[in-house]
Order: sequence, then structure tokens, then C-alpha cells
Amino acid sequence: MFGWGKHRLPEDFFQGACDVHCHLLPGVDDGFATVEKSLHALRKLEEKGVRKMILTPHFMKDYPENDRERITAKFVDFKAEAAAACGIELRLAAEYMLDARFPEHFKQGFLTLDQAGTHVLCETSYLMYEHGITEMLYDIMCDGLQPVIAHPERYQYANKANYIRWKDKRYKFQLNLLSLGGAYGDPAYAKSHEMLKEGMYDYVGSDMHGLSNFKHFLPEIKLSTKEMDQLLILKENNKKLFV
Ligand SMILES: [Fe+2]
Repeated sequence: MFGWGKHRLPEDFFQGACDVHCHLLPGVDDGFATVEKSLHALRKLEEKGVRKMILTPHFMKDYPENDRERITAKFVDFKAEAAAACGIELRLAAEYMLDARFPEHFKQGFLTLDQAGTHVLCETSYLMYEHGITEMLYDIMCDGLQPVIAHPERYQYANKANYIRWKDKRYKFQLNLLSLGGAYGDPAYAKSHEMLKEGMYDYVGSDMHGLSNFKHFLPEIKLSTKEMDQLLILKENNKKLFV
């Protein structure tokens, strides 16, 4: 599966790292289910060297109870518990599905990845291009905000022409780290390596929903020197979001 001359992530890859996409806020979506599990993961990540994490719970029609007010209150409670358990700095943002509830979230004001309040993490359905996506992304830009497309490599309907069109519109791309290890299947694996080599990504996130996937697929990641160089650029870009 892997070509000659590829290498695993170095042991110190996570030293000083900032994760920009994870589902560590417990009990609010399909991510970590309990405070204990989230705190356990935070301690493990701190041991690896992670310093900052942006928590990005799902805002989508599948979780109608998740709105800005509820999630912010949950985050305030969790942040206090996390501060007593580890030294990782936490920030709250969200992962917004471009679906029928999106206009409502737009009206409430976005929980953004950056302090300046501009970078909006967006995802689409994996399976098909849904009506209205183009308009929703356009509306974000028109409001002076910056769409960041979560894990573009995972969208089965998207081909190279789609990705180029999005980049031409100045949307930023966030790579799921584990795509590079095959966690989401062969098409996402192939696309992630190709787009990384071509310098199409801006940020890298774990999109962690639990620790097991991470443990299993992290050792599967093998990168060429060029890919590793690109990945290190993304790691630095992540840090600039959380200042
Ligand atoms: Fe996610």
C-alpha cells in the first residue's frame, strides 16, 4: 500500500501541536460520551505534547438541541474540569453542517476557530452534493467570513474539479490526519495524499471522536519527505488560529 521511501510520523510530531477539529466536548454529539473519557484523552494527548485544542461539536439537523447557547454553557463547565486535570488550553468552536439548519446557526452567530471570529468550520454530506451548499458558502464569504472546509477528501461526490473550484473561491481546506492512514477508506486515503502533495490544505485536524481510531490508524500513516514538509506547514498554520 505504501511506496518506497515513506516514513511514519516522527515521535515528536505532536510536540507543541494545536488540534483544530475534534469531538472532545463530552455528551453532545457522536464524539466522546462522558467527561471521564474526554479527560482521559486529554491526559494522553498532553503526554504526546499537544498544547492546544479547539473543540468543534457538530451543529447539524441530527443534533437539534445543539445551539450556541447550550454548547457554550457545556463548554464552560467542561473547561473548568479540564483545567483541573491537565494543562492543555481549550477553545470552543463548532463544525457546521451545510444543511437545512445552517441559516439558523448563521443568525445566531458562528463559534469560529479563531479569536478574530472569522474562520467557520463547515462540512457537507459525505455521500452527495446537497442543494444549497454553494449558496451557503457564498453567504459566509459575503459576510466577511472565511469558510474552512472540513475533511474535503472524505466527500465521495467531490472530484478534482470541485476541489479546484473551491480553492479558486478561496475556501480553506482542513485535512483529517487519519485520512492519510486509511481511516476513511481508500478513496479518502488517495485524495488526502494527492491534495497534501499539491499543497491544497491549510490546516490539519484529528476529527477525534474517540481514542481507538487514533491509536489504530496513526501508525498506518506513511509520508514522503514532501508530504511531511507540507504537513509541518499545516501544523504551524493551526497554531496561528489559536493565539
Ligand atoms: Fe468532525
